[in-house]
Amino acid sequence: MSAVAAPIERVGVVGGGIMGCGIAEVCARAGLDVILVEVDSAAADLAEQRIRASLERGVSRGKLEPDAAREALELCRFEPDAGALGDRELVIEAVVENREAKLGVFELLSKTVESGSAILASNTSSIPIVELAAAAGERAPNVLGLHFFNPVPVLALVEVIPSLLTEPDVIERAQAFAEGQLEKDPIVAPDRAGFTVNALLIPYLLSAIRMFEQGLASAEDIDKGMVKGCAHPMGPLALADLIGLDTVLGVSESLYREHREQLFAPPPLLQRLVAANLLGRKTGRGLYSYQ
Ligand code: 3HC
Repeated sequence: MSAVAAPIERVGVVGGGIMGCGIAEVCARAGLDVILVEVDSAAADLAEQRIRASLERGVSRGKLEPDAAREALELCRFEPDAGALGDRELVIEAVVENREAKLGVFELLSKTVESGSAILASNTSSIPIVELAAAAGERAPNVLGLHFFNPVPVLALVEVIPSLLTEPDVIERAQAFAEGQLEKDPIVAPDRAGFTVNALLIPYLLSAIRMFEQGLASAEDIDKGMVKGCAHPMGPLALADLIGLDTVLGVSESLYREHREQLFAPPPLLQRLVAANLLGRKTGRGLYSYQ
C-alpha cells in the first residue's frame, strides 16, 4: 500500500468548451487554483462567462453561497498558452473530440508541465488513452483518462481510465482527487473506445436518431417515451443536443473505428447536422431548435 499522497492544489484545464469549463468550475469550487488554457481572449471571455453563469445557477438553486461562487471565479485564471501550466500538479485536457488535436496537446504537455510526478489526464469521451500516453513520451506512466459528465457540476460520476502504461500510484491519486477533493463518485473503466458509459450510451442515442430519421416517430414522442416510460431525466434526442452533436459524432466514429459494428455507425442525419454546424444547444439548433 502506498503512502497517502498530498492533496492536489494546482490544476490546469486545456480547452474552455462546455466540458473544460465544467471541470474548471468544479475544481475551483473545491478550492483549487485553476488555470484554464484557451487559444485567444474571445474564447477565454466565453469560457469565463460560461463558468460565471453556471456558478450563478448554482447560487440560484441553493447549492452554493454567493461568496463561495465569487471565490471560485477568483480561483480561475485564463491563459492563452499551455506554457502557463509549468507548475501544475494535474492537467486535464478537454479540447475538441478529435484524435490529432488531443495527441498534439499531450505532446505539448509532456514538454511544458515541469514536475515528473504531475498527472496528465484527458476528458476524452472515446479516444484510447494509450494513444494519448504514447504522445506524452516519457510521461506515459502519468497519463490516464478522467472522464466527466455534462453538466459537470451536477453529475456525480467520473470514469478513471488507466492505460496499459499507467502507474498504479497515478490511478490511486486520481481516484483520491475525484472522490476526496471534488466529491465525485469515480469508477475505474476499461481503456476501450467509449470506456464503460459511452459504449452503452452512444448506441442508444444513435438508435433514437435513426428512429427519428426514418420517420418512425416524432422527436417529441421519442423523448417523451424515455422520460415518462423509463424515468430518464431527459430523452435521447434532447440529451444528444445537450452533449453536442459534434461530440456525439466524434464518439460514434471512434466506437465504429474500433468495433466495426453497425450499431456504432453514425446515422447520415447526424453527419448532415454537424456539417451544417447545427450542433445542438450550444449553437441554438440541432435536433431541436432553441431560438
Ligand atoms: N451547480 C450546481 N447544481 C446545479 C447547477 C449548477 N450550476 N445547475 C443545476 N443544478 C442542480 C439543481 O439544483 C438540481 O438539483 P436537485 O435535484 O438537488 O434540486 C439539479 O441540478 C437539476 O437541475 P435543474 O432543476 O436546473 O435542471 P433539470 O431538472 O431540468 O435537469 C439536467 C437538467 C441536469 C441536465 C438533467 O436533465 C439531466 O441530468 N439530464 C441528463 C444529463 C446526462 O445524461 N448527461 C450525461 C451526458 S454523457 C456525457 O456527458 C459524456 C460525454 O462523453 C458524451
